[in-house]
Amino acid sequence: MQNNDEMKGKVAVVTGGASGIGKGIAQRFIANGMHVVIADVDQAALDKTAEEIGAHPVLTDVSSSASVAALADATLKKFGRVDVVCNNAGVGPMANIAEMSLDDWQWLINVNLWGVIHGIHTFLPLMERNPEGGHLINTASIGGLATMPGLGGYCVTKYGVVALTETLAQELEISGSKVTATVLIPGLVHSNIKNSSRTRPNVPGDAKLMDVDIADNPAVANMRWLEPADVGDFVLEAIRQKSLYAFTHPEMFRLIEKRFDQIKTANATHN
Ligand SMILES: NC(=O)c1ccc[n+]([C@@H]2O[C@H](COP(=O)([O-])OP(=O)(O)OC[C@H]3O[C@@H](n4cnc5c(N)ncnc54)[C@H](O)[C@@H]3O)[C@@H](O)[C@H]2O)c1
Repeated sequence: MQNNDEMKGKVAVVTGGASGIGKGIAQRFIANGMHVVIADVDQAALDKTAEEIGAHPVLTDVSSSASVAALADATLKKFGRVDVVCNNAGVGPMANIAEMSLDDWQWLINVNLWGVIHGIHTFLPLMERNPEGGHLINTASIGGLATMPGLGGYCVTKYGVVALTETLAQELEISGSKVTATVLIPGLVHSNIKNSSRTRPNVPGDAKLMDVDIADNPAVANMRWLEPADVGDFVLEAIRQKSLYAFTHPEMFRLIEKRFDQIKTANATHN
C-alpha cells in the first residue's frame, strides 16, 4: 500500500462508498490521513461501513441532482471543503438490448451516467474555488471501452463516463484549471455488483435486467481478480500522477485492441 503524505487532511467524497470498490477507495484514503464522506443509497450498508472504516456517512441517491447537492452541503458543513470526488456509485445488471424495458434503461442511465454528471456539476465548481484545485475520479469499466453481449445498457453508460471524463480533462487543461480528472477503469474486482438490483427502486413488472454473477463462468472466475482496497491504490497513484486513466487490468487491453483493429480494418477497406 502506498502512503501519500500530501493527501493528509484532504477531504474526499466517495459515492457508492458503502460497498465494494467505493468502500475500498475510502479505506485507502483514510489510511492516508484523509477525511472521507461516503455517500450511498443503501442506508443500512452505509451506516455499517461508516462505522467499520471511520468515514462520515451521507445518505445519497446519485440519480437525483437535489440529493447530490445536499451531499455537497453536508460535506461542506462537516469539513468545510472538498478536495477529491469519486463518482463511483454504479449498477451492473444484464439483459439483451432487444429485451430491455424503458424503465431498465432509465435506471441504468440515471445511476451510472446521470450520477456522474450530477457529481461533476455539483462538485467541480467547489473544487475550482480551492487555491490548490482538486481531483475528480469517475468510475467507468472495461465495458466503457469495449462492448459485450448482455451488457449493452451498462456499456452505453460506461462509454458515456469515459467520453465525459476524457473531454472534461482536455477542457480543464485548456482552461488552466488546477482540477484534474481521472477515469477509473477497473477490470475484475470482488464486490456486490452481482446483486445490483438490491437498490433498484420500484421494480416494474416488465423489468428485464437481471443480476448475474460473472464469476459463475469458470473462464472468468479463473482470471485475475482484485480486492476493492487494491483499487484504492490505483486511485491514489492516479491522483498523484494527475493521470487521465487508472486501469487496473492491462491484460484486458486485448479487448480494446480487438475493437480498434475492427475499426482500422473497416477504414482500410474504403481506402
Ligand atoms: N466490481 C467490478 O468488477 C467492477 C468492474 C468495472 C467497473 N465497476 C464499477 O465500479 C463501481 C462500483 O461497483 P462495485 O463493483 O463496487 O459494486 P457494489 O455493488 O459493491 O457497490 C456499488 C455501490 O453503489 C451503491 N449505489 C447503487 N445505486 C446508487 C444510487 N442511486 N445512489 C448512490 N449509491 C448507489 C450501492 O448501494 C453500492 O453500495 C460501479 O460504477 C461499477 O460499474 C465494477
